[in-house]
Amino acid sequence: MDYQIKPLTRGFGAEIFGLDLSAGFSDNLAQDLVGTWNDAGGLMVIHEQNLTSEQHIALSRHFGPLFGDPRETPLQDTVSRYIHPDHPEIYRVSNQVSKDGTPKGRKGAGTYWHSDVSFRNRPAQASLLHAKTIPPVGGDTIFADQAAAYDALSEGMKTILAPLFAWHDFEVAARTQYAKPVVVEGDMNGANCARHPLVRTKPETGRKSLFVNPGFTSNIDGLDANESKAILEFLYHHSTQPQFLYRHRWTEKDLLIWDNRSMMHFAVMDYPDDEPRYMERCTVIGEPPA
Ligand code: SIN
Repeated sequence: MDYQIKPLTRGFGAEIFGLDLSAGFSDNLAQDLVGTWNDAGGLMVIHEQNLTSEQHIALSRHFGPLFGDPRETPLQDTVSRYIHPDHPEIYRVSNQVSKDGTPKGRKGAGTYWHSDVSFRNRPAQASLLHAKTIPPVGGDTIFADQAAAYDALSEGMKTILAPLFAWHDFEVAARTQYAKPVVVEGDMNGANCARHPLVRTKPETGRKSLFVNPGFTSNIDGLDANESKAILEFLYHHSTQPQFLYRHRWTEKDLLIWDNRSMMHFAVMDYPDDEPRYMERCTVIGEPPA
């Protein structure tokens, strides 16, 4: 099936036109899209999709194994309250609540710079977010290209960062930062903590990226608290400069696919509760960062 590819942002994204995946897709087409996504630099918008849950999951599986798939991994407690009742591979993000008071999805999900599930030994590779309902204005998602941010560092700073590892700890982040309102004690069982290199290499391309984020990174291993804070604050400031950013203004039925290994993202919650926003996400389990 032919489709058109247009650059979306300099160096790390593309948008796709002329595809209707809801009409069905072959394994070849899905694999082709994975290749296009990689070639584009890890951010890809496929417009005008109306995927069923089954199609969303089937496409996502071409990127790798999925969080929530009972055959792969137990869910982390922190998202289990928000998964689709019939499809545990689908995580729901929404500001809406059902009549019985049950959230239709996680409100305020990702309203801070982060890389999905970086607190696991095998953090997320791709995330595939499908916009079902969006507010008339606002609710954008911003992406920060961590490969370009790494490239822009001096050789001296690259040498300093090369041997360093950081802890990504959902508990510390949740208790001290942004996720606090949704945390329950079951999140704090130690399963959501992992040590990763500050700089990781994407196996498919050999390209290096910064891999720390203010949402989940607690500290740099082996440094004292002030040293760790100084380096992390420098990196967060450096890596979110405008030249590394793309801001996605959603259109209903967009399917946005991003690579958590080489970018952070930030969901902007600037819309009121009476303007519904409902998104469904499949999240691919990646390799241990190296
Ligand atoms: C997320 O996956 O972090 C949520 C992104 C969004 O809702 O825009």
